[in-house]
Amino acid sequence: MNVMTRPEELEACAPAGTFVETVTSVTHYTDQLFHFHMTRPAGFRFRSGEFVMIGLMIEGKPVFRAYSIASPSWAEDMEFFSIKVPDGPLTSHLQKVQPGDAILMRKKPTGTLVNDALVTGKRLYMFSTGTGIAPFASVIRDPETYEKFDELILTHSCREVAELKYGQDLVAAVKTDEMLNELFDPSKLTLYNSVTREDYPFRGRITDLIESGKLFEDLGVPVLDPATDRAMICGSADMLKDTKALLEAAGLTEGANNRPAEFVIERAFAG
Ligand code: A2P
Repeated sequence: MNVMTRPEELEACAPAGTFVETVTSVTHYTDQLFHFHMTRPAGFRFRSGEFVMIGLMIEGKPVFRAYSIASPSWAEDMEFFSIKVPDGPLTSHLQKVQPGDAILMRKKPTGTLVNDALVTGKRLYMFSTGTGIAPFASVIRDPETYEKFDELILTHSCREVAELKYGQDLVAAVKTDEMLNELFDPSKLTLYNSVTREDYPFRGRITDLIESGKLFEDLGVPVLDPATDRAMICGSADMLKDTKALLEAAGLTEGANNRPAEFVIERAFAG
């Protein structure tokens, strides 16, 4: 199959309203997941937590999918996580990109997992499953999040232990990055992991851990309270529905960009 990856070739035929950017590094985490960096277009602005359409020119046609931007709004380059679907129209090709290859990106970022869509509070929960952690890789590196909240709790639940690694590496990197630590206090950030289909010290779906109260016991914090707690949720459609129901039962209200409230949700994209 013909995938156009040379920057100058792609520039010549890129659809209107798209940038042509160059891949600068690629890391393969598991058989199902990889991470890449690419150049950031001059003048491209986004808010930490937003997503954008990423694409390739395949057999002469642009193929785009939504991707959460994993880098924070201030970063010089752009980072994305992607799953590898063997016959996925985009990811089967995207997983083969190498540094120097060109990628398309649409010009308009959007999304609700942004600080602006939440009212100020004491504690921010970021509930994620699988690749749903990607937007939070951005949010936890934005100093604004630390100005708005006293505590940041990132939960990442996966089927298998190996899938937790990139989130753990990311949080470890945030906590030891000297430049970031001049901008905010990383001791405000806590990562909570759970695994559902393998042995692990913390087992179970995040919804069950919220419902049983085990999450709060493990963290040593009070149960959810609309007076103090805010949340962002990113996972599969079912995970969003079930987590949202628990937050609503605890008295939190869903917010939006034009109507900030106590929690926001976004579906994790399937790459
Ligand atoms: P489980 O192994 O019990 O299905 P997926 O890859 O299917 O998106 O799953 C990622 C993680 O999200 C898995 O640990 C999975 O648990 C969990 N999960 C799936 N559905 C829900 C749900 N409705 N609520 C909470 N967690 C869920």
